Amino acid sequence: MEKKLKQVDFAEKICPSIFASDFSIIKDEIKKIEDFGCKIIHLDVMDGNFVPNISFGPKITSDILNVTNLIADLHLMVSNPSFFIDKFLFDKIKYITFHLEALNSEEDIFNLINKIKKINRKVGISIKPKTDVSKIEKYLKELDLVLVMSVEPGFSGQKLIEDSLIKIDYLDIYRKKNDLRFLIQVDGGINFENAKSIIEKGADLIVIGSAFFK
Ligand code: DX5
Ligand code: ZN
Repeated sequence: MEKKLKQVDFAEKICPSIFASDFSIIKDEIKKIEDFGCKIIHLDVMDGNFVPNISFGPKITSDILNVTNLIADLHLMVSNPSFFIDKFLFDKIKYITFHLEALNSEEDIFNLINKIKKINRKVGISIKPKTDVSKIEKYLKELDLVLVMSVEPGFSGQKLIEDSLIKIDYLDIYRKKNDLRFLIQVDGGINFENAKSIIEKGADLIVIGSAFFK
């Protein structure tokens, strides 16, 4: 019984990235996510500018969300997140995460945080592997989620960059010390072998793409 409960716990921490699925059998892929016991579907939106790849837009997102009861987290890998947010106002999208590197000023970042809060969504900021984690510190008080990228954003199927995991420790210590509640999510190169150790380091949610669907 205890073992079973632990497995449920584990499944609820996994956010499968639908970008890595086979879109020709999308309904079956979504069912895999539900059957595994996951609660959150991870939506990777790429604009071909912030990252050198293009994924999908609001039409496909809406079709996906129409055939599931899962909630979704939107990972915006785009240069103009404010523009994109307005196109993805679907009820099931509960978390909206943008990249710290996409914006130029502190003021723009706080404005975007407030915009997301105003539309009643949880707000997340993501940082790329080469971005110093201390750069996010001044925003942590306002956040529901921090997304630590463990690969360069843009593609599924890359190898995890071990050094990026140090940021989990830093964020976990920081939130305990300051009594903050943001979730730590890790994305990129995660599989069923390394997932548990990443959770043990303090990650609350992990994104799994290719390893989940293949
Ligand atoms: C990468 C995306 C990831 C990706 C994960 O830019 O943000 O969510 O789809 O895929 P894997 O798990 O294959 O690295
Ligand atoms: Zn992602």
